[in-house]
Amino acid sequence: MTACRTAPRIHAGRRPLTANRSFANASGPPRYARAVTNPGHSSNALRRRIRSFVVRAGRIGPGQARALAELGPRFVLPFDGALLDATAVFGRRAPLFVEIGFGMGAATADIARTHPDRDFLGIEVHPPGVGALLRRIDELALQNVRIVCHDAVEVLEQMLAPRSLAGVNVFFPDPWPKKRHHKRRLLQASFVSLVASRLVPGATLHCATDWEPYAEEMLAVLGAEPSLANSATGFADRPAARPLTKFEARGLERGLRVRDLVFVKRADAAS
Ligand SMILES: C[S@@+](CC[C@H](N)C(=O)[O-])C[C@H]1O[C@@H](n2cnc3c(N)ncnc32)[C@H](O)[C@@H]1O
Repeated sequence: MTACRTAPRIHAGRRPLTANRSFANASGPPRYARAVTNPGHSSNALRRRIRSFVVRAGRIGPGQARALAELGPRFVLPFDGALLDATAVFGRRAPLFVEIGFGMGAATADIARTHPDRDFLGIEVHPPGVGALLRRIDELALQNVRIVCHDAVEVLEQMLAPRSLAGVNVFFPDPWPKKRHHKRRLLQASFVSLVASRLVPGATLHCATDWEPYAEEMLAVLGAEPSLANSATGFADRPAARPLTKFEARGLERGLRVRDLVFVKRADAAS
């Protein structure tokens, strides 16, 4: 079952019972997800792959809940293991871009608005974020965005065909700053290889982070993927196409340095 199929807990106008500090105005780290022990895990669960996220009951506003109920059926695609037929879903043939972990979807909506000639698939496990992006889709009357509320690793593996994507964006993935949590970081060799396999030659993988140690790790991991080439020497200049989100602005106010990494799928890539 995906997080979004879980009935949303609504704490309208009240603090959530389980505080989600991911986007809180905390003065120091972590501003991101925190690991929690998975209660009552079965032996199956123990065998499961380590995930880059923890979904907790958190605050979902009434507007987000309404958007999930009313707009979800149209814009949220089910994760059922079937390969995505983008032409059927969007009703046209257009370059398909994916954003992984879109948070509240501000950047997704902004980029989709400025590129009506492209289609966008946003992947996010956090239901309030899905509700927030649905609201933006509605406000901006966007036709070129769809959402999957599920683990991006499984979406890439099962819904997206090899060499089908014109680009993948991963903006500010959870850095999991504690050493014992590094294994949860999304940008690892196996994940990068999976993403690269879904890109058409010439397509870009654009990552950004404000966590310097993670930025260095990303640079090493992306640089080691044989089917990708760095578009820059080291970190890239901030591409104008990446909108400034509230999340990023808060980090900048706190003096964090943002690093962009833009890698391109090689024309001669084996897969
Ligand atoms: C730190 S937030 C950044 C959100 C947004 N990109 C931004 O810049 O504001 C990272 C997001 O990635 C999501 N996430 C983490 N791992 C994921 C996965 N495997 N599949 C889908 N979403 C994931 C989290 O739920 C969270 O919303």
